[in-house]
Amino acid sequence: MKTVLKHIFRLKRDYATLPFFDYLRNESFTPQERLSFFPCMAPFIMSFGDLNRHVLRVEPTADPHLAMINAHTYEDDHHWPWYLEDWNKLGHNRTGWRPVDTIRFLYSDATIQSRLLSHRLAHLIWSAKPVVRLAIIEAIEETGNVLFALTTKLAQRIQQDTGVELRYCGEFHFALESGHAMNNDHAELATIELSAEDVVQAIACADKVFAWFSAWTQELLSYALAENTQALAA
Ligand SMILES: [Fe+2]
Ligand SMILES: [Fe+2]
Repeated sequence: MKTVLKHIFRLKRDYATLPFFDYLRNESFTPQERLSFFPCMAPFIMSFGDLNRHVLRVEPTADPHLAMINAHTYEDDHHWPWYLEDWNKLGHNRTGWRPVDTIRFLYSDATIQSRLLSHRLAHLIWSAKPVVRLAIIEAIEETGNVLFALTTKLAQRIQQDTGVELRYCGEFHFALESGHAMNNDHAELATIELSAEDVVQAIACADKVFAWFSAWTQELLSYALAENTQALAA
């Protein structure tokens, strides 16, 4: 697994240089403007609980790798209520929006990558053996680490300015993510021996995960820029 982890860290370094993350670091936009991508990620964030509960979790199991995955799913399957909490706190519970407007938005062309990401990951997970699934989870976690490290800084600024604590975007969530068994314990992952064939498969899966998340960040960036242009025009 060491070779695979090294590969994932290389992918993570490149991922962190994508234009979306430059935008999150761009001081010429306010923290609120930089977080304006927030509604666009709803389909994926809301599906992530299901990915953990219904795709990654396989119970009962005698497989040691699936047992590790199952433990991880219990850490990661209940974060979406904090996302809804921040949705409100960031003012996205718009007055005048009927439920039907929200559903239309969630299934609109603005959120295609966000929806596809869950389908793509589910397909990849189901087609991979447990030990390769561990690499897939590790790749997903590292993409999250890049995103949440940056949103945490923005949430801190918003809390300083307004007193509002954003639990999903901020330190509360980031601290839990950084303390994950899987995230924290790269040492345990690194001790897992993979066959040459598994290494090839795990690397191919990690490449796909980062490619799909990269496409997602482009969508988030386009959404944020469009939101800010609209705000300027209004
Ligand atoms: Fe999370
Ligand atoms: Fe996580």
